[in-house]
Amino acid sequence: MGLKMMGSKIRIGVLVSGGGSNLQAIIDACEKERIDGEVVFVGSDNPVAGGLSRARKHHIPTWAVDYQGIMAKGMRSPNGPELPAEADIEAVFAKLDPVQQKAPKAKKQLSCRIAFEAAALKMMQETPFDLLVLAGFMRLLSPFFIDAVNQHKSLPRIMNIHPALLPSFPGTDGYGDTLAYGCKVAGCTVHFVDYGEDTGPIIGQRAFAVTPADTIETVRKKGLELEWQLYPECIQLFAQKRLQLIRQKANEHSGRSKRRTVVTITP
Ligand code: GRF
Repeated sequence: MGLKMMGSKIRIGVLVSGGGSNLQAIIDACEKERIDGEVVFVGSDNPVAGGLSRARKHHIPTWAVDYQGIMAKGMRSPNGPELPAEADIEAVFAKLDPVQQKAPKAKKQLSCRIAFEAAALKMMQETPFDLLVLAGFMRLLSPFFIDAVNQHKSLPRIMNIHPALLPSFPGTDGYGDTLAYGCKVAGCTVHFVDYGEDTGPIIGQRAFAVTPADTIETVRKKGLELEWQLYPECIQLFAQKRLQLIRQKANEHSGRSKRRTVVTITP
């Protein structure tokens, strides 16, 4: 999994769990040269994900690792799943954010997630890539997987799209949570993946007005249409090497200062 570029095109790996409309937008943008890149594989935690069929139609190699099967088997077994020798469960656990550490059966859950991730990484080894794009991939990735992909800390290379204006409404139902809260603006966010849930440095966002006539269906439809524009644009910024991470200091009202890693986009 080196960082070697193929000509001027980046090699993009995509992970999906569902229908894959974002995947389709990315494939189309590559074909129309709105992204200087090529999708080199599509992987899934769900063997029947619609995104896998979309990929096959474009002759893109696919694979699936059955997340639910691995979790069920691992949680049933008294000693948890068998893990690869390089997986140091205590070290990975220490890197989890406190919310995940406090979840019930957190360590056993983590070892099952690592078993899934090790199998996924094995599949990914077959196809070198420069950027890994999560496109409706509905599983939290642990530090074991993230560190294996991000070999250089200064150059993260896992991106995600989230259906809300982060940092509001992380989690699995961004549009639903936005509407239920009574927000007058909704939107989507593309960010690099870090150890938290939807907490990584923000690359791009798009917003739209929520009107009294909106329902969850119309909000999702409007949001998805913006996602299909935003994701390819952010991937193209990566392909053009225009994304940089900086440590930024912000002063809080309390007078204390807080540091955060943010993305800057070079013109
Ligand atoms: C999108 O709304 C994305 O933001 C969220 O899951 C949905 C996936 O849709 N993470 P699709 O599979 O790309 O159609």
